[in-house]
Amino acid sequence: MGRWTSASSTSPTLLPAAAGTTCRTGSARADRPHALLEAFDAFEVSATQPGPYADRVRWEAHDGDRLVGVAELELPLTENPDLGWAEVHVVPEDRRRGVGRALWDAIAERARADGRARVGGEVSVDLEVAGAGFAFAAAMGAVEKHREDHLVAELPVSPCATDPAYDVLTWRGRCPDEHRPAYLTMRNQMNADVPVGELDLEITVLDDARLAASEERLARSYDVRVAAARRRSDGVLGGYSLLFVPHGADHAWQDDTLVMPEHRGRRLGAALKSAAYAALPPNVTLVHTWTAPSNTAMHRTNTAMGFRVVEHMHEVEVRLA
Ligand SMILES: CC(C)(COP(=O)(O)OP(=O)(O)OC[C@H]1O[C@@H](n2cnc3c(N)ncnc32)[C@H](O)[C@@H]1OP(=O)(O)O)[C@@H](O)C(=O)NCCC(=O)NCCS
Repeated sequence: MGRWTSASSTSPTLLPAAAGTTCRTGSARADRPHALLEAFDAFEVSATQPGPYADRVRWEAHDGDRLVGVAELELPLTENPDLGWAEVHVVPEDRRRGVGRALWDAIAERARADGRARVGGEVSVDLEVAGAGFAFAAAMGAVEKHREDHLVAELPVSPCATDPAYDVLTWRGRCPDEHRPAYLTMRNQMNADVPVGELDLEITVLDDARLAASEERLARSYDVRVAAARRRSDGVLGGYSLLFVPHGADHAWQDDTLVMPEHRGRRLGAALKSAAYAALPPNVTLVHTWTAPSNTAMHRTNTAMGFRVVEHMHEVEVRLA
């Protein structure tokens, strides 16, 4: 998907990227000991089997025969057509030589050519190790729009009992047909409810076809696990928790946890998470999650279970001139 971009004798040459996980891992690990890194499996699926809802453009920066940096631009195709999402990585030994800026210039040029007015990104900063990401993003013109905490918990976490009026049902991979309408309603409620600060985003609306497409794609790189709370009296689903385990990994990452408004106040969020973690295979020993500090209920639920904050994740945005 990528394209050649200009290279002068003093700046690194930018090539369309075919792979970049090693470089990305080296860059992220340099100042982010708790970074959740995309596994090669997931990278391969996104690089070789592009989905219908977003284009991805990738660059590698080479200095002679050395790979010194990688960048990626995601261009959503169905909503947020004015926006792109970017990521830039430079290996530690080649920083402060202008490689990051050259990659960013390529991203901005491509995004503008595609009619995008702004580019967003996530910059994660370790609580103890100083990193360059935030200063770099600011130098590229980015402003902060939202912040989340990145938390981790070693398993097992403190268990949380389920309210006796509910039971917890679980599935892996595709949501069973009988639960799909309720699950779609909850997923869309989550997309509408999740705090995004000042990020101005058009909300993604999932229908059955889009859910099925995402389930099918995700299954290629993740063991996707869902726990849902079902009210015993009428079988109504009152909440769900979505967990990803990269194939073969020793860690999981917690995506959505939602309790529908009329079911709140019964600690179902904690019960769902605790049920999902208890069912993980024994080789999975760590869970990552992200929560906005302003999302008091979820933040307290997480810390009460044993999660601790390890990074601040800044969602930033650059307005393209
Ligand atoms: C952030 C990162 C991509 C910067 O790459 P780089 O090649 O060192 O960046 P550049 O040399 O092009 O720097 C461009 C400008 O960013 C700012 N900057 C970069 N690193 C900085 C640091 N450590 N401290 C302060 N400012 C910094 C400076 O303004 C710099 O311009 P200058 O050198 O003329 O002063 C690199 O440190 C990295 O890969 N970090 C880990 C991944 C990450 O956080 N990516 C950003 C979020 S997607």
